[in-house]
Amino acid sequence: MKILLFGRNGQVGWELQRALAPLGELVALDSDSTTLSADFTRPESLRDTVRSVKPDLIVNAAAHTAVDKAESEPDLARLLNAMAPGVLAEEAARSGAWLLHYSTDYVFDGSGDQPRDEDAPTGPLSVYGRTKLEGEALIRASGCRHLVLRTSWVYAARGGNFAKTMLKLAAERDKLTVIDDQFGAPTGADLLADVSAHAVREALREPALSGTYHAVAGGETTWWAYARFVIEHARALGQPIKVAPDAIVPVPTTDFPTPAARPRNSRLSTQRLQQAFGLRLPPWQQGVERMLSEVLGR
Ligand SMILES: NC(=O)c1ccc[n+]([C@@H]2O[C@H](COP(=O)([O-])OP(=O)(O)OC[C@H]3O[C@@H](n4cnc5c(N)ncnc54)[C@H](OP(=O)(O)O)[C@@H]3O)[C@@H](O)[C@H]2O)c1
Repeated sequence: MKILLFGRNGQVGWELQRALAPLGELVALDSDSTTLSADFTRPESLRDTVRSVKPDLIVNAAAHTAVDKAESEPDLARLLNAMAPGVLAEEAARSGAWLLHYSTDYVFDGSGDQPRDEDAPTGPLSVYGRTKLEGEALIRASGCRHLVLRTSWVYAARGGNFAKTMLKLAAERDKLTVIDDQFGAPTGADLLADVSAHAVREALREPALSGTYHAVAGGETTWWAYARFVIEHARALGQPIKVAPDAIVPVPTTDFPTPAARPRNSRLSTQRLQQAFGLRLPPWQQGVERMLSEVLGR
């Protein structure tokens, strides 16, 4: 099998390079690739790339993920999150390839307090959410066989992430304030990549599995409880932490105004994915503990 991966240096793309490697011959590209275009600002240029590689599976881990910045550059966000995936989907349909693509909890409005399933009504609150939703729609409309995995709160050991920021602040400050009224599940890029590889393998054997799935770690938390978990775990591992446990203060989202509105309820039900592919999504704490051991070297 030949696999063409876009976004190889992103959080998820990096882990996909590892997880997809045993499935076949992998051609992995990023926006800096020169011989083959992987420039999502020029969606039409991607057609030649697909036609020359002739993949059985196209994997798109590239996106405009700067949620606040997207509010002031909606045209760019739309090119990256909707038009480019739309072209990849058309090329997949034309050639009979599968497309694996990622979407987000931000396609929902975040109302209520229950986990949403894949058929729940969408209602994005931001440019990022709207353009990701348009990307999903273009993929479905193309008629290609696809797996669209909606995920949330992605972190990776490589590069910056929320946990690392909290650890840095916790070592410097006496007090931390963290949002406590957004609910979701931190999901490791490594877990998402492994789930993707398993799902793709099943789907290639069983085309009826084509569709949209929610793929997040098990359980739920808030940014505040997530921060506390990270800081207390690091303290237990002997990291120098200045902030006292009761000086990590929960605050509402309104205390941190941002250009893009975020959904309050990002809980996603993963029942469909677990049943369709016979997979289990481990609790979010498991992946976060592992990532902390990795970044702290303990
Ligand atoms: N991060 C999250 O919390 C989160 C939550 C829900 C869903 N998702 C979805 O999960 C997927 C992977 O996200 P991630 O966190 O791994 O993203 P990421 O770390 O921000 O990586 C984004 C990737 O997109 C590439 N890219 C950016 N602009 C590009 C352009 N003009 N042309 C080609 N490639 C370009 C980047 O390449 P360069 O480094 O070369 O620019 C990078 O490889 C995305 O579909 C995202 O929407 C993410």
